[in-house]
Amino acid sequence: MAMKTYAIAAIPGDGIGPEVVDAGVEVLEAVAKRDGGFAVRVDRFDWGGDYYKKHGRMMPENGRDLIRKHDAILFGSAGHPDIPDHITLWGLRLAICQPFDQYANVRPTRVLPGITSPLRAVNGHELDWVIVRENSEGEYAGVGGRVHRGSPLEAATDVAMFTRAGVERIMRFAFRLARSRPRKFLTVVTKSNAQRHAMVMWDEIAAQIAAEFPDVKWDKMLVDAMTMRMVMRPQTLDTIVATNLHADILSDLAAALAGSLGIAPTANLNPERAFPSMFEPIHGSAFDIMGKGIANPIGTFWSSVMMLEHLGEPKAAARLMRGIEMVTADRRFHTPDLGGVARTADVTTAVLDAIHGANV
Ligand code: IPM
Ligand code: MG
Repeated sequence: MAMKTYAIAAIPGDGIGPEVVDAGVEVLEAVAKRDGGFAVRVDRFDWGGDYYKKHGRMMPENGRDLIRKHDAILFGSAGHPDIPDHITLWGLRLAICQPFDQYANVRPTRVLPGITSPLRAVNGHELDWVIVRENSEGEYAGVGGRVHRGSPLEAATDVAMFTRAGVERIMRFAFRLARSRPRKFLTVVTKSNAQRHAMVMWDEIAAQIAAEFPDVKWDKMLVDAMTMRMVMRPQTLDTIVATNLHADILSDLAAALAGSLGIAPTANLNPERAFPSMFEPIHGSAFDIMGKGIANPIGTFWSSVMMLEHLGEPKAAARLMRGIEMVTADRRFHTPDLGGVARTADVTTAVLDAIHGANV
């Protein structure tokens, strides 16, 4: 039988994106080889800010067609100091997420071995969350406009748009994910006290979908109070579902509480698999440290674990995750974001060694 080969589209993007994606590709290839049951073929696409400067757009017009047939996408980061952020975002990341209907953005948060949380309440206790971010509509729907530019009458709107279909599918996804985890517990984040239309519908649909999952316990939390609960009572949370913007903000808080934004992974999933899903570190382009060789590749490695799980390679995923945890446990391999002096290459080599080691 021919060995299964997964086609991966790598889009390193801007800033430290290329540094961490190169490291991620190395690790993916190594873990595939170590397990022997599958291979990866990586195609690189040089889209992003530099591409924009040459071509006036972040990716070619037929860009999506070039990656539509791939099994998964490994994304670095989009963002460039010379280009407005809304152009880099909408021209690349959202230009992939939205048409590929990657409506479930999954962001696991754990304090990995060797990492110190800034929370006193956490060290020595468990912090194990997964944030599910609605990733196709809400505050990021792109609905709105701007008129009378520059005049005193100038006006602008960004309309948060919620559809019944969009809310039902993300709630179902979140309840299902909560059910797959030991605590079977979901917290639905809302702001229905102030936002009396869409957020009230959001709450109603949550209650309706909850009835399909009698074995999952759930509660509801206003987003402002949620920030307090995350800091003060982190052990009371497990799976969390929130709107696009709420979860964007909460997931940065979550990443910081788990020790560093440099570690946090994310998966942009099309659960129906009609399109490839996209995996990326949360940290962004970090131009201040670009080219210095000190970017933390762990966020990309953990995102690669999520990719392997999605591809149906749980053994390889678990092996890579164990390798990551062995490396974070050793302070010699902490990059500056974790208070250490290690370089991207040191961390990558250590993870490669761990993958090849007998006990991983
Ligand atoms: C994230 C990021 C992006 C977002 C930025 C880069 C636009 O913060 O993935 O959380 O807001 O979606
Ligand atoms: Mg964010």
